[in-house]
Amino acid sequence: MSTAPKLETQTWNTDSWKDFPIQQQPDYQDADSLKQVCHTLKGLPPLTSPEEARALKKELALAAQGKAFLLQGGDCAESFAEFNEVNLRSYFKVLLQMTMALMYGAGQPVVKVGRIAGQFAKPRSAGTETMNGQELPSYRGDMVNGMDFEADSRVADPKRLLDAYYQSGATLNFLRSLAKGGDAALDHISQWNMDFVAASPQGKHFNEIVQRINDCLQFIRATGMQTIDMPQLREATFYTSHEGLLLDYESALTRFDETTEQHYVCSAHMLWIGDRTRNPEEAHVEFLRGVGNPIGCKVGPSMTPDGLLALCDLLNPKNEPGKLTLISRMGAEKVQELLPPLARAAKAEGKHIVWSCDPMHGNTIKSPTGYKTRKFTDILSEVRHFFAVHAAEGTYGGGVHFEMTGQDVTECLGGAQAISELQLSDRYHTHCDPRLNASQSLELAFLIAEILKQRG
Ligand code: PEP
Ligand code: CO
Repeated sequence: MSTAPKLETQTWNTDSWKDFPIQQQPDYQDADSLKQVCHTLKGLPPLTSPEEARALKKELALAAQGKAFLLQGGDCAESFAEFNEVNLRSYFKVLLQMTMALMYGAGQPVVKVGRIAGQFAKPRSAGTETMNGQELPSYRGDMVNGMDFEADSRVADPKRLLDAYYQSGATLNFLRSLAKGGDAALDHISQWNMDFVAASPQGKHFNEIVQRINDCLQFIRATGMQTIDMPQLREATFYTSHEGLLLDYESALTRFDETTEQHYVCSAHMLWIGDRTRNPEEAHVEFLRGVGNPIGCKVGPSMTPDGLLALCDLLNPKNEPGKLTLISRMGAEKVQELLPPLARAAKAEGKHIVWSCDPMHGNTIKSPTGYKTRKFTDILSEVRHFFAVHAAEGTYGGGVHFEMTGQDVTECLGGAQAISELQLSDRYHTHCDPRLNASQSLELAFLIAEILKQRG
């Protein structure tokens, strides 16, 4: 039995999580350096504003009510080494292409949330890793330590929190400029197809949509309306999210909002709680229950209906639509059995939830050649079952959550490109879990668009 104080009876503050047991934190050796870094972070400008977080919550409220669809995606783990203009541009392009595909299928607005500009810290299944008889602390993401299997590199260094902050700021700045500065305008849609995708079946499929959209734009202009005056056609609204794992960092970037008299984490618009850190009696739930941002929570196979309702009460005590996104990640094999009781329980209690599907984390396998990978068919199968379960339960499957990149990597098996086990080694670049490449991401978006179209 836990000796931690009960969450509901505690008064929340930005440090109250420190009174609770906590999982998945780095073992910082240099406490003074951590303290100094947190002090610095507290004085630095916030990356996002409470107003923006509330705007996202409003968009997500539509997804909770069946009137919009959430697309959340990005790297499993961002890295310092792969931070460059080309990668960010291609990520943004493929995300916009997926948005178009889904909008076409769902006939609804798509809420775009990146797993980016802060997604640097990883929970690990083991605290240490052993290679050739040497045991070292596990790699926990570039925000904590280095990936190289060397003693020095694996030391948790608090200064990496600052590096992650600055990279997040630069990433967010560039993505904002792409979203608002013309690149995302529908007039530019033909430029979103990347060369290596254009010739593929999904690249061609996308070009058909481009053609239809261009026809619509031409028609609108023929009426005398100026598309330049319509912000919906001229720019995109893009939000950021990451797993709220390192609470020293997140609490140092939390600010008090005078308008609503509430605290907001200002490291991203939305934060989610991982499947390993969602214990209602522990620190992550305690910290995130007290902030005004929209919150996500991963829901894996060990979740029970009572556990789910307890989390809803803690994370969304006022039952506000858009506040809580539950991200189901059961695995293709288990989702049909495990998701219905949860969806049913939440519905019976009238909980307002954005139900989203992460078809990645329950479908990770090891290839015979030793690569961590995922099969495109398993990913698609979990997505199909997810929407079928919600249709059967009378609940709304309101979104998807992917690990994806705009690059032409070979990390997941299959898809129209038919990436084989032997090809995994060609371009396997991920710092953590295998991602869908640009072409697989777009292909999946089209297949989901078909599912959404059929559900009407
Ligand atoms: C992740 O989203 O990268 C992750 C670790 O997921 P989960 O908490 O669902 O395992
Ligand atoms: Co992952």
